[in-house]
Amino acid sequence: MRHCGTQLLQTGRLVLRRFTIDDSEMMFGNWAGDPEVTRYLRWNAHRSWAETAEYLNLVAQQYPNPEFYDWGIEVRATGVLIGSISIGKGQLDTGWPRACDRLGLPWEVGYCLGRKWWNQGYATEALCAVRDFWFGTAKGQWLTCCHAFENVASAAVMQKAGFTYHHDAVHRRFDGTEVPVRVYFLLRNQVELPR
Ligand SMILES: CC(C)(COP(=O)(O)OP(=O)(O)OC[C@H]1O[C@@H](n2cnc3c(N)ncnc32)[C@H](O)[C@@H]1OP(=O)(O)O)[C@@H](O)C(=O)NCCC(=O)NCCS
Repeated sequence: MRHCGTQLLQTGRLVLRRFTIDDSEMMFGNWAGDPEVTRYLRWNAHRSWAETAEYLNLVAQQYPNPEFYDWGIEVRATGVLIGSISIGKGQLDTGWPRACDRLGLPWEVGYCLGRKWWNQGYATEALCAVRDFWFGTAKGQWLTCCHAFENVASAAVMQKAGFTYHHDAVHRRFDGTEVPVRVYFLLRNQVELPR
């Protein structure tokens, strides 16, 4: 791997960029304060933009770390921040076969968008950009992601970006609640993974 941190990425309609503390109001108003957006996520909706600001302060402290990946998703045409996409370290003891050990840790990508911007292809566009960055620039061996059973929109996004379903697992939200999820992967060199 060649970890290089959260780098600026551009697609046809989007800019994927680092957050700044000035994004607190847009992040809170556009998605982080909406329980419908966080319904299937590990974290609960923020109760105020101050809580969002606190989160963005922590994010700012982590950007110098080359293994920290957290992008704000901005629409190029309007400059509006509509969501986020991040990659974090997953764990190998969560249903992956031993044959995966040689691939290293299963880094996991996650994303969310404000409701106003759903079903316009934005999440797929962002995920494809991050996927290409991961394999092209960061030289990742593989990338994983998962969605709650009922989250069919997220399943569609993963499949459109080329990810393959591998197994079911149970994840814990930050408040301790368990959520059954479907786990997907994508390999740098597309070969079959054992189950
Ligand atoms: C999941 C999420 C990121 C999708 O973002 P998006 O920009 O709407 O995704 P896209 O437009 O790229 O693709 C959505 C796909 O889901 C499909 N879809 C949406 N709702 C659906 C439903 N109820 N049933 C079946 N398919 C559905 C759309 O038709 C589209 O597929 P298509 O292009 O084949 O028609 C967005 O809904 C979201 O932020 N949800 C809340 C946070 C979240 O759940 N994040 C993912 C955690 S794993």
